[in-house]
Amino acid sequence: MIHTNLKKKFSYFILAFLLLAVICVWKKGSYEALKLQAKEFQVPKSLEKLAMGSGLQSRSASSQQDPKQDSQILSHLRVTAKVKPQPSYQVWDKDSSSKNLNPRLQKILKNYLNMNKYKVSYKGPGPGVKFSAETLRCHLRDHVNVSMVETTDFPFNTTEWKGYLPKENFRTKAGPWHRCAVVSSAGALKSSQLGREIDNHDAVLRFNGAPIANFQQDVGSKTTIRLMNSQLITTEKHFLKNTLYNEGILIVWDPSLYHADIPNWYRKPDYNFFETYKSYRRLFPNQPFYMLRPQMPWELWDIIQEISSDWIQPNPPSSGMLGIIIMMTLCDQVDVYEFIPSKRKTDVCYYHQSFFDNACTMGAYHPLLFEKNMVKHLNEGTDEDIYLFGKATLSGFRNIRC
Ligand SMILES: *[C@@H]1O[C@H](CO)[C@@H](O)[C@H](O)[C@H]1NC(C)=O
Ligand SMILES: *[C@@H]1O[C@H](CO)[C@@H](O)[C@H](O)[C@H]1NC(C)=O
Repeated sequence: MIHTNLKKKFSYFILAFLLLAVICVWKKGSYEALKLQAKEFQVPKSLEKLAMGSGLQSRSASSQQDPKQDSQILSHLRVTAKVKPQPSYQVWDKDSSSKNLNPRLQKILKNYLNMNKYKVSYKGPGPGVKFSAETLRCHLRDHVNVSMVETTDFPFNTTEWKGYLPKENFRTKAGPWHRCAVVSSAGALKSSQLGREIDNHDAVLRFNGAPIANFQQDVGSKTTIRLMNSQLITTEKHFLKNTLYNEGILIVWDPSLYHADIPNWYRKPDYNFFETYKSYRRLFPNQPFYMLRPQMPWELWDIIQEISSDWIQPNPPSSGMLGIIIMMTLCDQVDVYEFIPSKRKTDVCYYHQSFFDNACTMGAYHPLLFEKNMVKHLNEGTDEDIYLFGKATLSGFRNIRC
């Protein structure tokens, strides 16, 4: 459809061009005049679209058009109009809205809004506040406090908890790093061959039980931080036994009610993971294992809501989004893999499981769609990197000027 539309535009352009040429010759105008008029004519935009069409077309096997002929015309036009065609890649639209969700996911979103399980009472200036990417980055830096529960926080300062939390501050243990990678668990990582590139970063963050064994080629093998949700820790039978968890710095997070402080959260965690946490700490006391401050996910949620034009799920952000922000505080540059989907995107949820659900990309419980809009907005890499590698590149908070 796009293609025929472009062809139509293209032939209009050719007609107009010929008409101009005839007028010029008729007026005995010189070559200079022709060039001038061609410049004034609205060439660049239609040419750009033409280049886009041919770029897409060359990848499409079903195309009927002769690409050689097309490129000949194109190169001819390039000479006269001096517009460099650039290939264009269809990637995530940063202005996606809930209308882009299928009816099932729209209904789930509505249900979560009605349920408001975490008693969210948003008082910020949103929804729909517009920020430039630079301002948004500063806004995140200044309003999302990435820190961990500390030994001085009640009730973790009581005898019951003595010796369980790491003594060393998270920020002295983690980073600062230059180039970091955040590796999603998306099905699209399968057959990506990104392993070497991922391991080539100074630090790599992974999520939950995302495995490495048998997937090194696609996801790499280095783990510097593993961010886990409390559900995994409470329900994964092998959490204390699986050596997967013995590498790197561990962070667990658990959703609190919207306005809860640490004591309130402790009384009413979403998943009561505290005993398992203690067991793990007794088994592996030398491995750094932190608890994310429960306020942090909501500080981030507030900003996602502020910049989204729709009301978003009143549920905490995904581990993926939390991991990206954690790395932005520790690193100069963060490469995020398959959070914004590449050309490999399917409905397969995880690279290590054959489980299909569109919700894994678009979000049901987590406001995933809006998180992706935000990451796309912050992306400083190219659409080509997203399309081919699922890679978004974000500046960390360490070296930005606000
Ligand atoms: C972040 O939270 C920690 C722990 O509550 C606190 O000590 C620190 O002052 C906070 N930082 C900012 C910038 O608010
Ligand atoms: C733990 O922290 C609370 C709140 O800051 C404080 O009131 C209490 O005295 C502390 N307990 C211990 C044993 O230090």
